[in-house]
Amino acid sequence: MLSGVEINNTITNPDHIPVLLGEVIKGLDLKDGGIYIDGTFGAGGYSVAILEKKKCNVIAIDRDPEVLEKGKNIVEAFRGRLKLVQGRFGDLQEILRREGVNSVDGIVLDLGISSMQVDDRLRGFSFLRDGPLDMRMEKAGMSAADAINTLSETDLSDIISRYGEERHASRVAKAIVKNRKVRPFMRTIHLADTIRSEVRRSRAGIDPATRTFQALRIYINDELGELERGLIGAENVLSANGRLVAVSFHSLEDRIVKSFIRDRSKRAPGPSRHKPILEDLEKKISFKMINMRALTPSRREIISNPRSRSARLRIAEKLLTKPKNLN
Ligand SMILES: C[S@@+](CC[C@H](N)C(=O)[O-])C[C@H]1O[C@@H](n2cnc3c(N)ncnc32)[C@H](O)[C@@H]1O
Repeated sequence: MLSGVEINNTITNPDHIPVLLGEVIKGLDLKDGGIYIDGTFGAGGYSVAILEKKKCNVIAIDRDPEVLEKGKNIVEAFRGRLKLVQGRFGDLQEILRREGVNSVDGIVLDLGISSMQVDDRLRGFSFLRDGPLDMRMEKAGMSAADAINTLSETDLSDIISRYGEERHASRVAKAIVKNRKVRPFMRTIHLADTIRSEVRRSRAGIDPATRTFQALRIYINDELGELERGLIGAENVLSANGRLVAVSFHSLEDRIVKSFIRDRSKRAPGPSRHKPILEDLEKKISFKMINMRALTPSRREIISNPRSRSARLRIAEKLLTKPKNLN
């Protein structure tokens, strides 16, 4: 039992525990007959809970090709009610067009990577397990090793600072460039040890490699760009009263979700000579904010699933019409 919602554990992968499951399901405000998007299928925890809760349909998306294979049994179990698509939620509108769907009743995004991806050392996401320096969710395109071995010191420093919020980014970048001349970086442990030799463990005991690994993962997978495109796609395909539910795991993601919802739900400023009023209204007032503050996991959930500890959930509801006083 997790946050008040039980899922059928015989069909989902027990290696990934869905985070804030009860809150996500409540936040989606599910209806019989609805069509819902699970933009980050992973082990299928959210999709299964949605399909078990209501007689609805789910279109699930994941960019990781391995997920498609692992999710086959779940697709079969729901006999036509679940469609699993390999792709990016940043291409949501294009994916729905291909599926012949114009609008949907709810969208959930559970950002980042799954426990299966972190724990598989061959994927190269973990600084604790030695593996190839890969980090590509799609298993295609530029790998983390390509980036580390070819980008300039300035670019590396910028990426580590911006996406890892690492204070010592320039020092880490310098050490990478110096060390790669001796031996190119091909393994996660080589990179992690190089970072550890430059940056001390924090007082809270956080591994110094944490922030640089996060930065590389975000950069390689263009995670923040995906999120921005995904939110705009959600805005365009959600039907009136449809819910957008987003779970983020670090401040960079949460900031994007929070400012998007704030921007789209705040009252438009008074008419300005410089901006057409309609453009302002149509662009901004498309959502109602459901929770003013992000929801976070209970102590109980954090104890049973420590990976949930940094989760923050935000919910917004698509508006039916423009607010009356703005017409
Ligand atoms: C945190 S896990 C989701 C876990 C899922 N909610 C569950 O209960 O099993 C995130 C998943 O989203 C996928 N993912 C990340 N970014 C994506 C994107 N832009 N488009 C589609 N899938 C993405 C990852 O490959 C990973 O499988």
